Amino acid sequence: MRRKLVAGNWKMNGGLAFNAALLAEIKAGLKQVDCDVALCAPAPYLAQCQSELAGTPIGWGGQDLSAHAAGAYTGEVAASMLQDFSCQYVIVGHSERRAYHAESNELVAQKALRALQTGLTPIVCVGETLAEREAGRTDEVVGQQLDAVLQLLDGAELAKIVVAYEPVWAIGTGKTATPQMAQDVHAALRAKLSAKNAGAANVVKILYGGSMKPDNAGELLAMPDIDGGLIGGAALKAADFLAIIAAA
Ligand code: G3P
Repeated sequence: MRRKLVAGNWKMNGGLAFNAALLAEIKAGLKQVDCDVALCAPAPYLAQCQSELAGTPIGWGGQDLSAHAAGAYTGEVAASMLQDFSCQYVIVGHSERRAYHAESNELVAQKALRALQTGLTPIVCVGETLAEREAGRTDEVVGQQLDAVLQLLDGAELAKIVVAYEPVWAIGTGKTATPQMAQDVHAALRAKLSAKNAGAANVVKILYGGSMKPDNAGELLAMPDIDGGLIGGAALKAADFLAIIAAA
């Protein structure tokens, strides 16, 4: 059975004082932890995460990285820079970056490889828009997003990634996929992973993201191929984030 992972994605939110209070409340409220826990913060706050979370059961990471190792890429963050702050994770291919920064499936795959080459665990996001779901193209779309990663990584590399299924229409909307809807897509993703490398498919965690909240986390996390959550809004409220961790 795969150990679950509950990862928070703060997105472009937070501030030094806000983060200090949130991190202190999460650390104080963390009781028996039966899952992996991580927080993915904006890059300027990774030093704060490192100093506040080192030695706790909570990991931390970035929300994006450059596909390049270093160089003339103004504004980008290199994997080595995330490593400088002892990051364990980095989100790649979040739907907001695919939409607002035109990140292609191929670029996302290259970012995932760059993360692995630097010892980071990439959380590779896939997900369909409402229009794509209504057109019956969900499996096709998320399959293509995952295929780009499967084509670039070998089996050993594949075993080290985390996948996050985030239906775009459920992100930040309060509309959550039903547990069965999510399970169906997770199972399809697991089947694609298995077709490439059965061993990797057994160990890769597939997280659900998209309005996971304390009141729906338990039923989502009970599904056989849902191995955790990638949490947006609820990660910014200590009580909600702790409740989701407790449900894992
Ligand atoms: O990356 C997680 C995020 O996209 C989910 O956001 O606010 O729907 O939990 P939210």
